[in-house]
Amino acid sequence: MKNKKVLVLYAHPSQHRSEVNTPMIRAVKAMANVTVVDLYYEYPNFDIDIDLEQQRLLEHDVIVFQFPLYWYSTPSLLKEWQDLVLEYGFAYGQDGRALQGKLLLCALTAGGKEQTYGDKGYNHFTIRQMLYPIEQMACMTKMRYLPPFALFDARKAYQDQSVHQHVDTYRELLQALIDDRLDIEQAAQLDKLTHHVEHLILPSEAL
Ligand SMILES: Cc1cc2nc3c(=O)[nH]c(=O)nc-3n(C[C@H](O)[C@H](O)[C@H](O)COP(=O)(O)O)c2cc1C
Repeated sequence: MKNKKVLVLYAHPSQHRSEVNTPMIRAVKAMANVTVVDLYYEYPNFDIDIDLEQQRLLEHDVIVFQFPLYWYSTPSLLKEWQDLVLEYGFAYGQDGRALQGKLLLCALTAGGKEQTYGDKGYNHFTIRQMLYPIEQMACMTKMRYLPPFALFDARKAYQDQSVHQHVDTYRELLQALIDDRLDIEQAAQLDKLTHHVEHLILPSEAL
């Protein structure tokens, strides 16, 4: 079976201060069948090359947005990327079917603790609810949406070293997507992929 190709669109405005996204992106950069695009490095002036970005999308099966959560959303360059690249006639509209059937995944980190994301916490909404505009963008562009793979309490994860476990799981998740061994139907029901990745990976004989 042919490997799937993964495109990671990485958006972090202050990488020199990053403690968790940096090890995450380093780990997946080294993987076969994974292309990493560092958006803030390529486009420091927000001057996005639309043709190049659309070509990149066409060449990959799985699109990953990797970012630190900034004001309950993506950093601004990743929003600008969506605004410019996902054009009418390419991504949506009558003949806009370029993204049809591709998978979209958000791999994000958040400063807030996990229990704060829900109706009982001070953030009120779950992380999947918080990212509904991206989920609906996937729907409009006919992509298949996966619930977010989120690391919460990011500073603590760095201090107590649990970030290493998260990095390993991130690699396993991307490898399962490359091998087409993630149970997409089951995954789609969840609020987030965090804590569930291991149970969603199908054994090879199930294929
Ligand atoms: C401008 C700004 C906005 C932020 N907004 C949020 C937020 O809405 N929710 C949250 O949980 N954390 C928020 N944070 C914390 C970051 O998400 C957190 O520092 C980051 O995920 C850690 O990853 P890093 O070590 O790779 O930078 C914000 C941080 C900054 C600088």
